[in-house]
Amino acid sequence: MESLRLWPVVPEGSGRTVSSPPSMGPYEIPPGTEIMISNIGALRSKQWGVDSEIFSPECWLDNSEKPQELRKAFTGFSYAHRTCAGRTLAEQEAKIVLATIVRNFEFLPIHLPPIGEEMLYHVTARPRGGLSVQLRRRERERHQPRAHGF
Ligand code: HEM
Repeated sequence: MESLRLWPVVPEGSGRTVSSPPSMGPYEIPPGTEIMISNIGALRSKQWGVDSEIFSPECWLDNSEKPQELRKAFTGFSYAHRTCAGRTLAEQEAKIVLATIVRNFEFLPIHLPPIGEEMLYHVTARPRGGLSVQLRRRERERHQPRAHGF
């Protein structure tokens, strides 16, 4: 979640056509206006805290000091009626893939430019030239045969 907050796959957010005049603070938006709220802007807003640009996965723990309301406002999968239909599947897949990789491989240090230095922004965002990682298969612990009688 924290990776998606700092580096949302859909950085631009979703376009919407205003059907009834909502107000946003001092602004009135006429019906028919097309609006788009920047996902990456909202997700790095100072509302997330003074450290909003810092990777802090602990803010997603249940005992985090971050207000629950704020975490509910996470827009990486959009929000409300047209929210991402595949969110639950995507979250489950991410957990399974990550757990499988970490269980079987260790990550080796590799020289990389800082993430985000060169991004390609289309509908989705990705690092220009890909993201190189080096993995080494973990040695499986040898199974110790049990002594007879136990
Ligand atoms: C990390 C993975 C994913 C991210 C970050 C993501 C994010 C998003 C976002 C931001 C939208 C725009 C919603 C809007 O218009 O406000 C969306 C829509 C949608 N997503 Fe995803 N998505 C992901 C994975 C998936 C997967 C795995 C599926 C299907 C298996 C899926 C199916 C859909 C569908 C059907 C919509 C259109 C919903 C609608 O317009 O009613 N997404 N997604």
